[in-house]
Amino acid sequence: MSKAASKADWEMIPRKVDFKWDVSPLQWIPQDPFASHGINHFSFTLVRGEFFFCRMLNQALPYITDEKLKQDAKIFIRQEAIHSQAHKVSIDEYLVRYGVNTTEQYQRVVKIFDNFLLDDPLGYKLPKRLQRGWLNLRVGVVAAAEHFTSGLGQYVLTRSHWEARGCDPVVSDLFTWHSAEEVEHRTVAFDVYQNICGNYALRALVMGITAPLFTYLMAAGTVQLAMHDSSIPKKQKSIWRPAFWKAWHHSDLNSYVPGPLWYLVTTLRYFKPSYHPYYEASTELAQAYLSQSKGVVDNQQTSQVSKKQEVAQQVNA
Ligand SMILES: [Fe+2]
Ligand SMILES: [Fe+2]
Repeated sequence: MSKAASKADWEMIPRKVDFKWDVSPLQWIPQDPFASHGINHFSFTLVRGEFFFCRMLNQALPYITDEKLKQDAKIFIRQEAIHSQAHKVSIDEYLVRYGVNTTEQYQRVVKIFDNFLLDDPLGYKLPKRLQRGWLNLRVGVVAAAEHFTSGLGQYVLTRSHWEARGCDPVVSDLFTWHSAEEVEHRTVAFDVYQNICGNYALRALVMGITAPLFTYLMAAGTVQLAMHDSSIPKKQKSIWRPAFWKAWHHSDLNSYVPGPLWYLVTTLRYFKPSYHPYYEASTELAQAYLSQSKGVVDNQQTSQVSKKQEVAQQVNA
């Protein structure tokens, strides 16, 4: 019997969310301001990055040969669209209140997702014979990135326990809700990549590029936010200073945010030829959190109208 193209044998649900951004502090992990910035900067990467994920999976849909996987991909797109929008709202209603320079933050990711990874990279029109390979490669980028997001999700669900440790409940919930849905849909992008391409060498090559880039985005984003925080020592505000890496590692030791060693070890697992994201995290744990998240206002499928709104918001973002 041939293996199923979709390994997700559980239900995935795009959930509507509503987070109240009236009182959350910028240093929402009071014990560790550095870690607060190490998580907050994700919102900028996620707004543009997850919109890119939606575009890629949408383009891959006609090439998916398995009906169940195609349905999974459509749910993945809707979940990621909601994630991207929720982080945009958190930036507009929360981070800007503290004078965070959003232009500076977005610049870091726009170059990658909105210039280089386009259908016409840097404005260069690809010949027709290269277009399918370029799509496969970019779906590979999504699969590689999703390896990190589901790994981060499992970390958050099993180690961080922010709210129980006295961190701001709304920011904790935003990132834990998102983490849990990343765990829930962790198999989809990888299964799509395997279904439309499946080439191991390309998968490994893409991770070889994605891992340092992803780690750099994490480090640079943290520094950009920490730069405006007078409580952070100056020597921790540059990725070229050992103090920065020590502070990041220290936040990891305290289980507030995954650190540099976590990125290295997580990256290496992806190179195993038998790797599959199914084995990387716990769906039960994720769905248990999602069933009681305060930000989730609708644990059922969103309506047809909402689906259209989500997509329209993304297109206009
Ligand atoms: Fe997401
Ligand atoms: Fe995701």
